[in-house]
Amino acid sequence: MVSYIESLNHHETTLAGLFQEQLVGISHLGRDSFTTVLLEKRVLSRAFVPLYRTVACQVENKRLRDVVEEIIADEYRPDDHQKLLDEDLRMMGLYVPDAQYTAKSITLSTVLKASLNFYKRGPQSDLQNGFFLRVYGELLPGIEYDVLWPRLVCDFGLTPDTSQFYWHHKVHDEKRVELGVGGETHTDKFSQALAGLVHNRFDFHAAKQAIDTAYLLRSNFWKQFF
Ligand SMILES: [Fe+2]
Repeated sequence: MVSYIESLNHHETTLAGLFQEQLVGISHLGRDSFTTVLLEKRVLSRAFVPLYRTVACQVENKRLRDVVEEIIADEYRPDDHQKLLDEDLRMMGLYVPDAQYTAKSITLSTVLKASLNFYKRGPQSDLQNGFFLRVYGELLPGIEYDVLWPRLVCDFGLTPDTSQFYWHHKVHDEKRVELGVGGETHTDKFSQALAGLVHNRFDFHAAKQAIDTAYLLRSNFWKQFF
């Protein structure tokens, strides 16, 4: 019989595959549209720490809280990642100061608001919040950076040595091991803590729902471009 963890792992992998297929269009975007993608994603990135902090101060499970706090701490190593992202964009000639960036789409605002409002309370909140962060904040962004990277190289000449933000995230966010197995990337750091919270079918459904919400939000963000 397939365990709850195996089934959740399979579900994640299926959605990750669909997400990757959805992003194939990135290679066909014109230069202006691709620039818009990067600037809109910058806004999403700036909401990352507030989202994680909201969860970190409410998580009851110590193991999960440690994971969330460790990832927040990583956000400032070797320096504030928002600063490093802007340095990459500046090098690419794309840096736009916040005050002058007015092209925020309705989709972006909706996704931002929904992600910051996802926070759950109640008996399964750790499980739901944890799975949401793992998929919305790590697993799917890992795929985004993987798909964006060839264009960043081709259009802007980034290399693993010159990029301080994009390359780092392409390498450190992705899922490399199955759910329940220990690992070092940000997606994988959640793996054992979350698997330890799934005990019955109610937990299973709560986790699945959080994964689905995370997937739908990220997927909706990308739909506007293709
Ligand atoms: Fe990450």
